[in-house]
This record gives sequence, structure tokens and C-alpha cells, in this order.
Amino acid sequence: TETVYGLAAHLTSESAIKKIFEIKNRPASNPLIIHIQNQAECIKYLTEIPIDFKVLTDAFWPGPLTLVMPIKEELIPAIARANLATAGFRVPCHPIAQQLLAKISPLVAPSANLSGKPSATRSDHVEKDFGIDFPLLDGGACSHGVESTILIYQEKRWYLARKGAISKEALDYLLGYDVEAITVTTKPVCPGQLFRHYAPKASLTLSKTPSHKIIVGFSDRIYEGAVRVFSLGRSSHPEEIAFNLYDVLRSLDAEGVEEAEVDINLPTTEYGLWITILERLQKAANG
Ligand code: TXA
Ligand code: MG
Repeated sequence: TETVYGLAAHLTSESAIKKIFEIKNRPASNPLIIHIQNQAECIKYLTEIPIDFKVLTDAFWPGPLTLVMPIKEELIPAIARANLATAGFRVPCHPIAQQLLAKISPLVAPSANLSGKPSATRSDHVEKDFGIDFPLLDGGACSHGVESTILIYQEKRWYLARKGAISKEALDYLLGYDVEAITVTTKPVCPGQLFRHYAPKASLTLSKTPSHKIIVGFSDRIYEGAVRVFSLGRSSHPEEIAFNLYDVLRSLDAEGVEEAEVDINLPTTEYGLWITILERLQKAANG
């Protein structure tokens, strides 16, 4: 997809869905996103059409926005939704994902990485995690490089369940209110928040003044004393940084790096994609 590679199974194939959980080593309590072609296909699964469903999907589908909503339970296997009475839906905009869905939607697909590892944003990342013979549709590098933003609908409001490729400000603006974050202590929870994420084997520390020998940093900065700099791209280009993020985290492991320092002297951490980037780096560092 345009965000990260997905590991797909048809929604009606419980055996294939079970296999996804097995090969990813994914906890059964972490539900999958259902990928569909358009609004109409989504609506069939819903108990009601949420307020602002049309506003959100007109603005962002196809695209990196996942909506978690109450569903008609008999239409979606429990294993796909981890037994919840809700499910997450999105319409991806990558042309290959769209062609595939035009043939065989709906598809459930988590990110195509081993559970806990950085997501796969290049085809070789998928091969690294699942083997060279793994069936793969190669769409090149994913243009966003970070996952979809997830909203959950509850009591006639939308809540932010995962920071992602679409900024909170864009959603606040569209909905006309402050889209509050769901945290691990609020209800409903986003199960994915409870698990280890995005972490390379290398132990990472975050610093605004990095001085280690091995640094994850920016192409337009000079790091005195560094022997190796893994570049996320230009420090003023959040899209470029997101695009490279998981590739860089995976390169650390590919090169056998045990420890590195990450430059988090970002232009801002207050808005937009910067918030998503910092959160992913923090999770990568904390495991
Ligand atoms: O960009 C993306 O969203 C990618 C591409 C492949 O579409 N997919 C992706 O899937 O990131 P995954 O499985 O790695 O992350 C899905 C997240 C998890 O955190 C999961 O807990 C949450 O979505 N989720 C799915 N269904 C949910 C539900 N019913 N309630 C709350 N959270 C849900
Ligand atoms: Mg994932």
C-alpha cells in the first residue's frame, strides 16, 4: 500500500487469517484492518453510518486513514477483529493495492513485518522477514513510509487511536473539534498500542545533541566525531524522513549495529507528521 507493505488474506478465509497471526507472531488480541475498495463496500459492514463518515472518507479515501466503527458481527470473522464488536477499515490508494482489491476485496492486512519489528516499506524488507520465496507484489518503495492514521468512533465522536500519515490538525480542521487521543488507560483502547513496536535489534538512544560514533541523523547536518551516520534525509523534510524511517531502522540491523544515537533535534514536534515521526522513534528506542 502507499503507507507500508501489508500481509493480506481474504476476509472470508479464516485459515489464511489464522496463518497471518502465526507467521507474524502476532498476538490474537490485536485486530486486523480490513482493506476495501470504496465507501459503499465499507457501509455494508456497519451497524450505522457514523457522523462525519462521509466527510472523512470524501476527504481521505483512498488514502492513509483507517476508521474503526461498530460492525455487523456476523459479516466479519471474529479472528480478524480479535473478537471486538468493531473493525477498522481503509481504502488504500496505491495502484497495485487498488488493482488487487478490484479483483478480490475485501482483504485483511496487517503490516508485512514480524510482530514488534519495524514495518516493511520496501519489498526487500518483506523478504528479509518472511523469506525470498514469499509471495510478494512488488510496488516499489511505499510513498508515505508510515502507517495509516487510525480514528475510532465512539459516542458520536471520533478519537485518535494511532498517529500516522495524516496529521491530527487535518482531522481537527475537517471535523471542527479537537480529535482527542485514546491512550492505553482510556476506553476504548487500540489494542496495537499495548504491544512492542517498530524496534530494531540495535539499542537506540534519543538525543538533541548526539555525540555517539554511530548516529541516525540528517543529511544536511555534520556530526563531529561520528564514524557512521544513517541518514533519514533532510532535517526540514518530514515526508522524506517518514519515507526513509523504517528503512533506516532496518539498515541498523542489516549492518549489525548494536547501539546508535538518534538525532531528535527536529524543527518542531508540535504538529503534523513531525509528531508521528517522533512517536515512532520513541517506540523504536523504548521497544
Ligand atoms: O497503513 C496501515 O494501516 C497498514 C497498511 C498495510 O494498511 N496496516 C497496518 O496494520 O498498519 P497493523 O495491523 O500493523 O496495525 C493495525 C492497527 C493495530 O494497532 C490494531 O490494534 C488497530 O489497527 N486496530 C485494528 N482494528 C481495530 C479495532 N477494531 N479497534 C481498535 N484498534 C484496531
Ligand atoms: Mg503493524
